[in-house]
Formats: sequence, C-alpha cells, structure tokens
Amino acid sequence: MAPLKNEIIVNPANLNCRLTRRAAYKASSSGTVGNALRVHPAHRRLHACLTDTHALEAKLITFRRTIRAMTNRAPPDDPQLARVLARFECGQLSGQMTLMYWLKMGRSVWQIESELARLQESSREGERQHFAELGKLLKRHREGCLRIAAMVGSGVDSDLPARTDAEGIAFCRRLFDWSCQQSGEASVALYSLGSPALLSAATDEIVLWLGEQAVLRPGSDALEIGCGIGRFEEALAPVLGTVTGVDISTEMVQRAQARCRNLPNVSIQLSEGKNLSGFEDASFDLVLAIDSFPYLFQSGWSLLARHFEEARRVLRPGGSLVVLELSYGRSLEADRADFAKLALASSLEIVVNGDQPFHAWDGNAFVAQRGRT
Ligand SMILES: C[S@@+](CC[C@H](N)C(=O)[O-])C[C@H]1O[C@@H](n2cnc3c(N)ncnc32)[C@H](O)[C@@H]1O
Repeated sequence: MAPLKNEIIVNPANLNCRLTRRAAYKASSSGTVGNALRVHPAHRRLHACLTDTHALEAKLITFRRTIRAMTNRAPPDDPQLARVLARFECGQLSGQMTLMYWLKMGRSVWQIESELARLQESSREGERQHFAELGKLLKRHREGCLRIAAMVGSGVDSDLPARTDAEGIAFCRRLFDWSCQQSGEASVALYSLGSPALLSAATDEIVLWLGEQAVLRPGSDALEIGCGIGRFEEALAPVLGTVTGVDISTEMVQRAQARCRNLPNVSIQLSEGKNLSGFEDASFDLVLAIDSFPYLFQSGWSLLARHFEEARRVLRPGGSLVVLELSYGRSLEADRADFAKLALASSLEIVVNGDQPFHAWDGNAFVAQRGRT
C-alpha cells in the first residue's frame, strides 16, 4: 500500500536500537504496511527520536500518539499513565510495576479496573491480550492493591526534600514504621502488590544477579544498609559467612529479627541512620543498599555522601558496594553522574554504573569496588 498523503514510512529494520526496533515491529503489526510504520509528518520528530537510543522515553510517548492516530484507540487522558502503559506494552515494565505506578498516580482499584476494561474494548487483538493479563494480575492481588491504594491515598509519604539530615531520618523512621504496619511486603517493595510470592520472586531475581556480579563469595561477610523486613538477610544467609542488616525503623527491625530468628549467622540491628560508626574498619566484603539510598538522598546529599565514605571504610580491600536505586524520579543520566561523583569522592572504583537488569523491578543497579590496597 502506498503511503497516504502526508505520511512517511519508517522501516523498523533500519532503526539502530534493539528496544526501539522491538517496539517499532510491534507497532507495525497493528497499523502498518508490511514491516514499515506509517508516520504522519506531524510525527516526523519520531524518526529522529527512534534513531536516538537515549530518547527512549520521548520516543515511546510519541509512538503511542502515533499508534493512537492510526488505530483510533482512545488515549488514556493522563500523559503519565500513557507513558507507563507504553513502557508496559513494549515489555520495558512488568505488570506488577505497571499496576504499582498506576496506583501511585492516585487511582482507586475500581478506577483502574474500569480504565482497563475501556482499554480492552478499544484495543486490537494483541494489545487486548496485554491488558487482559494486567486485569488478571489485578484480580489476583486485589486485596494488596486496595491496601496500596489506601497507603498512597493517606498522604503519609512525601517526596519533598528534608531541610536537615535529622529531619529526613525522622521522617523516614515514621514513614517506614507506619508502612510496615500496613503491609510488610508492600512497605519494602510496593510492586510486590503486598504479595509474599511476588516479593519472593523479585528477591530471587536480585540474588541471582548479585551472584552473576561475583559479589557473593562463600564465607564472606555482608552488611545491608536499610534492611527492611530482612528478606535479603534471609536469602543470603545460606550462601554467605555472616549477614548483618541495619535499619532506622523499629517495626522493620522487629519484622526482620522475627523472620531471621533461626539463622545464627544473621544479625539485625536498629541504627540511628547517620553513619556506620557501630562497625569496625575493613570488616565486610560486601555492603548492600537495596532501595534504601533514595531515602538517604531525600534526607540530604551530605548523609548520602557520608554513607559512601562509610561504606568504603567498612569494606575490606577488594570488597564491593552494591546500590540498587540511588534516587527516585530523576533521569538515569543524573543518577549515573551522581553515582560516579560519590564513588570517586570515596575512592571507590566503578564497576556497574546504572544498569536495569531486572524483569520484575525497574530499579537501577550500581556497583563500586574498594581497591585491593
Ligand atoms: C524501601 S525499604 C527497602 C528495604 C530492603 N532493603 C528491601 O529491599 O527489602 C527502605 C528501607 O530503608 C530504611 N532506611 C531509610 N533511611 C535509612 C537510613 N538513614 N539508615 C538506615 N536505613 C534507612 C527504611 O527504614 C526502610 O526499611
């Protein structure tokens, strides 16, 4: 079929980014001629975007608009939601993360259900299947989603930066004491949708990745900053020599201690959250900060920088600092630049600077190493 008036043709095979190509082929199957995507000149910007691997976000949004223009499917009104759904549809975001973001936008479970039904009705076959899967996931974890919607709606959390470290730590302590009472699983990972099974699968995926990074040496000693309910202490105890978890939240510490009570090589301690002064120099082979540094970031740059210095101090030569998520709501580039700055200032060598290796969770992964001397 020849291009219609005012259309240009983009062939996905010519695109230079794997993800982009995948998304383009997907789009092409729903509204194009052969493998080519029909693009109205109003969307010519798309072509430039598609060839720029650093503009995935912008590209996906434009993509969705284009697809909508071609399929007449009613767009979700909210551009933030459109972006989340675009990421889900091109396989960049898991179903559980998609539902989590949806709930975090302040939608009720009922609103999500009706929006999903509307999307299914107005979608083509392949897309309908995707939304049906999302609907099934929501149905399976409806109770947990209702609780998360209530947690989000309570307004207890806030992304405002703290004025002082002390204020930031006190805020986090209150937030996590409270969220742990609502749901242990959701308090450490909203994307678990409150389900122990989903949380356990996500934990396994992270532990597998840690193994691939060669940071889990048998007999070695690990420290986790911000251990929450102790899921990583429990998972790592059988493979490591000792695992120590520290956290500022009394509720979290109690949950973690109960969870690990039969694991003699695990120690869970309540901390003041200011530094790692309770630990000797060169006493660990691995320091983990799994989804806890965004809260230190929010509490203040100086607190975060101090924890990098402290991590280096307590690491043995050759030991590793693993940070999963540095901050929330910023670009990957900004996090990469800050991780490099913080690692450099603490004389740590960068090993991984901002990968996104997980399927269940879209967290960014960073690894730095203390030199061998
Ligand atoms: C999202 S939870 C993640 C818990 C755990 N790492 C996990 O992934 O299951 C973040 C945790 O960091 C803790 N936290 C926040 N600020 C902290 C600080 N300054 N020092 C130690 N822990 C902190 C919170 O209390 C909370 O338990």
